[in-house]
Amino acid sequence: MSQGCRIAVFASGNGSNFQALLEASREGRLGGGEIVLLVCDKPNAFVVERARQAGVETYLFRPKEYARREDYEAEIAARLTELEIDLVALAGYMRLLTPVLVSPYAGRMLNIHPSLLPAFPGTDAIGQAWNYGVKITGVTVHLVDEGMDTGTIVAQEAVTVEPGEDVDSLTARIHQVEQRLYPQVVKQFAEGRVRVNGRKVELG
Ligand code: GRF
Repeated sequence: MSQGCRIAVFASGNGSNFQALLEASREGRLGGGEIVLLVCDKPNAFVVERARQAGVETYLFRPKEYARREDYEAEIAARLTELEIDLVALAGYMRLLTPVLVSPYAGRMLNIHPSLLPAFPGTDAIGQAWNYGVKITGVTVHLVDEGMDTGTIVAQEAVTVEPGEDVDSLTARIHQVEQRLYPQVVKQFAEGRVRVNGRKVELG
C-alpha cells in the first residue's frame, strides 16, 4: 500500500470513528488513504446518514435475509474487490467475521476497541472496565481475525480512570482517544509503514 490506499469502513452504529477517518482523509491526514465505502448491517444506524451527507457510497445489508454469515460476506467481498479496496477498517461493526472476509484481507483489516486488550473484549468494554474498577484502561487498534477482539495488536493508548469519574465521562474521554489514534494508525498502514510478524508489529 502506498499512494492512493482505498479504504472501506465497516460500522453498525453512531459512526464517530467513521467520521474521524473521513475528516482525516479529507484533510490529507491519512497518508493518501481515501474512504471509498461504508459497509453497514443496520439501515437505521446514524453512520448511514453520516455517509450520505459526505457522499460516501454505502453497502447496506440485512444479515437476517441470509442463511449464513458466509453468504453475505461473499457479496461484501465481491464489492470490495470491484472497488479495489486495499484496507478495511472496522469501526463499531458489531459482528464476527468468517474467513470469507478475513482471509483476503489478512494483515489489511483493522479494528478499534475501547479497552486495553486482552482485557475486556466484546460489547460494552468501557462499562466492563469501569464496573471492574480498573485504574487504567484505554484503546486498542488490532488486526482482525475470526475471534472476538483477538487479533494481533497494532497500537494501544492508555487512559487513566480519574478518581470518582463516572462512566459517561470515561466514555467520552476514550472516544476522544479513539478518534485521534485510529486515523494515525490507518495513516501508517496507508503509507506502508507497518510490518507484521506474527503477534509482533513494528511501526516505522
Ligand atoms: C467505539 O467505541 C469502538 O471502539 C467500538 O465501537 C464503538 C463505535 O463507536 N468498536 P462509533 O460508532 O465509531 O461512534
